[in-house]
Amino acid sequence: MADSRDVVFLDGVRTPFGKAGSLYAETRADDLVVNCIRELLRRHPEIPPERVDEVAIAATTQTGDQGLTIGRTTALLSGLPSSVPGFAIDRMCAGAMTAVTTTASGIGFGAYDIAIAGGVEHMTHHPMGEGADPNPRFLAEKLVDPSSLVMGSTAENLHDRFPEITKERADRFAVLSQQRVAQAYTDGILTESLVPVATRSAEHGWGLATADEPPRPDTTMEALAGLKTPFRPHGRVTAGNSAGLNDGATACLIAGADTAAELGIAPAMRMVGFAFAGVDPSVMGVGPVPATEKALHRAGLSIDDIGAFEINEAFAVQVLAFLDHFGIDQDDPKVNPYGGAIALGHPLASSGVRLMIQLARTFRDNPQIRYGITTMCIGLGMGGTVIWENPNHAKENEK
Ligand SMILES: CC(C)(COP(=O)(O)OP(=O)(O)OC[C@H]1O[C@@H](n2cnc3c(N)ncnc32)[C@H](O)[C@@H]1OP(=O)(O)O)[C@@H](O)C(=O)NCCC(=O)NCCS
Repeated sequence: MADSRDVVFLDGVRTPFGKAGSLYAETRADDLVVNCIRELLRRHPEIPPERVDEVAIAATTQTGDQGLTIGRTTALLSGLPSSVPGFAIDRMCAGAMTAVTTTASGIGFGAYDIAIAGGVEHMTHHPMGEGADPNPRFLAEKLVDPSSLVMGSTAENLHDRFPEITKERADRFAVLSQQRVAQAYTDGILTESLVPVATRSAEHGWGLATADEPPRPDTTMEALAGLKTPFRPHGRVTAGNSAGLNDGATACLIAGADTAAELGIAPAMRMVGFAFAGVDPSVMGVGPVPATEKALHRAGLSIDDIGAFEINEAFAVQVLAFLDHFGIDQDDPKVNPYGGAIALGHPLASSGVRLMIQLARTFRDNPQIRYGITTMCIGLGMGGTVIWENPNHAKENEK
C-alpha cells in the first residue's frame, strides 16, 4: 500500500449549460458526459487512456439516460478501453464535487493514479425530485420541516433567519453575477473550458451548442424587482436571484502529483483538503458555512488564508449568508470573479466541477493567490467545501 500522496486537479471541461426544455431537450444526458470525457482525452494526449483508473460520474436522478451506472456507461461510450471501470455517484448538487473528493481519496490512498470525475444533470429529462419517494416518517415524525424538500422554500427560510439579507441585496448580487459572466465571456475566460456539443431537434434540425444559454447580461435591478416570488407569496426568492433549471455536464482529470510529474502535465490545483457537513434541512443553504469551517480547521488554515472563493449560487441569499458569516463584502472581487450559477445555470450534480474549473482559471491568472476554495450547499441540509492550493504561487515565489 502506498503512503498518502499529493492529489492534483489537472484540467476540467464542461458542456455549455442549457435551459431546461430548450437547448438539449432532445440530446441525451449521457452524451453530454461523453463529450466532456472525449474532450479531456483529446486535450491530454500525454495520458494513455488505459492509465485512467476510474471514471466517477454524478447524477442526482439515476434512471433513464442518467441510469445504468453512468460512470461506466460513459467510459465505454467515450471509447475508453473496457479495462477502465466506472461508477455513479450522488450527493445531489454536490455530486461532481463528491466524485472529485472520492476519487482524490482513492488517489491519496494509492489505489488509483488517474481518475476522471464529473457530473451531469438533465433537468429536462429528470425534473428535480421526480421519481423520489421520501419516507413518510420524514414528515409524520417531524424529522424535517415540510419546506425542506423544496429548495426555493429553504431559501425563503434563510431570508427569514437573516433578515439583514434583503431582497434588494439578493437582487444586487444577482445583477453582479450576470455582469461578471458577461465580462468573462468578453474576456474569453469561460469559453476556454467549453466543449461544443452537437444538438438535435426534430423541429430545428441539428445544431452546435458553443455558449451557455441561461445568461441574461442586460439584467437590471428594476426588472428583478418586478419578478414573481414562486416559493412564497410576497417572498424574496425569484427566478432572477436563483439558479434556474438547467441541463449540462462537467468532467475533470484528477491525478497523483507524482503521476502528473511522470506524464509531464503541470497541475492546475493541488487539493489541500475537503469537508462535508450537515445542517438543518430547512435552511440547507447555510451548509457551506460549517463545511468550510470544518475543512479549514482540518487543514490548519483560517478564512483569512483564502484568497479566492468559488461558491455555487443556488440562491443569492445562500451566498450572502456565507459571506456575511465570514465578514466578506458581497461584491468582493475574490468571490466568484467570473460570475456564477445565477447567470450560468446549475445542472445540479454537474456544478461542483464547474466551480473547480473557474477556480483553476483564477489561480492561473493570479499567482499571488495561494489558497482558494470551492464550496456549495446541498439538498437535505448539507454543505461541501474543497480547499485548493495554487501551484503557480510556489513558482512565483521561487522567482
Ligand atoms: C425559480 C424558478 C421556479 C423559476 O422557474 P421559471 O418560472 O420556469 O423561470 P423562468 O426562466 O421562466 O423565469 C420566470 C420569469 O422571470 C423572468 N426572469 C428570469 N430571470 C430574469 C432576469 N435575470 N431578468 C429579468 N427577468 C428574468 C423570466 O423572463 C420569466 O418571465 P415571464 O414569466 O414573463 O416569462 C426555477 O428556476 C427554480 O426552481 N430555480 C431553483 C432551482 C433549484 O432549486 N436548484 C437546486 C438548488 S439547491
